[in-house]
Amino acid sequence: MQWKIPLSDIDFGPEEGQAVNDVLQSKWLTMGAVTQKFEQAFAAYVGAKYAIAVTNATAALHLACVAAGLGPGDEAIVPALTFVATANAVRYTGATPVFADIVGEQDLNISCHSIEKAITRRTRAILVMHYGGYACDMPSIMELAQKHNLKVIEDAAHAVGSELDGRKLGTWGDAGCFSFFSNKNMTTGEGGMIVTNNDEYSQRLCLLRSHGMTTLTWDRHKGHAWSYDVVDLGYNYRIDEIRAALGTVQLRKLVSNNEHRRCLTLLYRDALQETVPQVSVPFAHHPGISAAHLMPVLLPTSSNKASFVENMKAQGVQTSFHYPPIHTFTAFKPGRDGVSLPITEAVAEREVTLPLYPTLREADVLTVVQAVAHALHPSQCLTIQ
Ligand SMILES: Cc1ncc(COP(=O)(O)O)c(C=O)c1O
Repeated sequence: MQWKIPLSDIDFGPEEGQAVNDVLQSKWLTMGAVTQKFEQAFAAYVGAKYAIAVTNATAALHLACVAAGLGPGDEAIVPALTFVATANAVRYTGATPVFADIVGEQDLNISCHSIEKAITRRTRAILVMHYGGYACDMPSIMELAQKHNLKVIEDAAHAVGSELDGRKLGTWGDAGCFSFFSNKNMTTGEGGMIVTNNDEYSQRLCLLRSHGMTTLTWDRHKGHAWSYDVVDLGYNYRIDEIRAALGTVQLRKLVSNNEHRRCLTLLYRDALQETVPQVSVPFAHHPGISAAHLMPVLLPTSSNKASFVENMKAQGVQTSFHYPPIHTFTAFKPGRDGVSLPITEAVAEREVTLPLYPTLREADVLTVVQAVAHALHPSQCLTIQ
């Protein structure tokens, strides 16, 4: 399908090509000096003591759950309006994800009140996900977690560069997990990062990332070690130098790209309000600075979402849906019939995500808004440039 305006696009230029080429020339491809530099730059940027690069955010979430001590018999409270990885990470450890509802139509993040209601004597952790890059209510969630002695893991896959109260998202909880998947604000194709200020977590995460081995191939290459012990049940969740090189360049572009995303978001808000005021745009007066990863809108309750999406497609505009709620998936069946999350379910029925990416132009935003107007009122004849 050739989209006139795709859902997302990446900002890659000759600098990414050069960085990858430099790695290829060096002939050292697996985790080494380039990865270390990427981790240092990322930790400095978000203001965390440690940053540990991994294969993807799913691996980051899994390792964070292991480091938090989750295991069989434990429960972790998670949102259902997130990508399935947030809940899968809990399940990999043998623990059970318990779903909490979101705040409301304006704030699609997990609700602190709903978390509190879901706490049982088995609860060990809370996983929050900063929807679209907009901050969860971290001060209240951290206070609740402290009161009940719970770990907090932030799924910050959408939130690289987001802030709340002057503090970067991902650094509020015990561990923060970022994704560099190809549609994210900074990308390495596949890739992820865990940040933490906790010394013990950092040590364990580094071990778990590479089979629980006490030395890496890189250490042996540098002559710092010639053997190793295996001290934990770990995984191969290592990143490689090519991705680390891409990530380093992408991180340099992040501040200006996020700024552009925020400007486009404001333009979308104004144009939607003026053209189709019946469409609700969440996070209108949200606190903090968002990475503006997504542009979610809620269609009027009377609209047919499937026809809307088809109509947008016919106009060459790609849309998406964030997210089919996890508790409705077949693989989460045991809880499927029993769990009721009325706000999540109502919002998910109406949510559509519009295109937003750093190379999107202001004129494209206006084209998308005209397309939305046409898709809502197909009988009105509008000319889309
Ligand atoms: C909210 C959320 N969590 C986790 C992930 C998993 O990230 P990755 O694809 O890097 O494993 C994604 C990726 O799309 C995501 O959007």
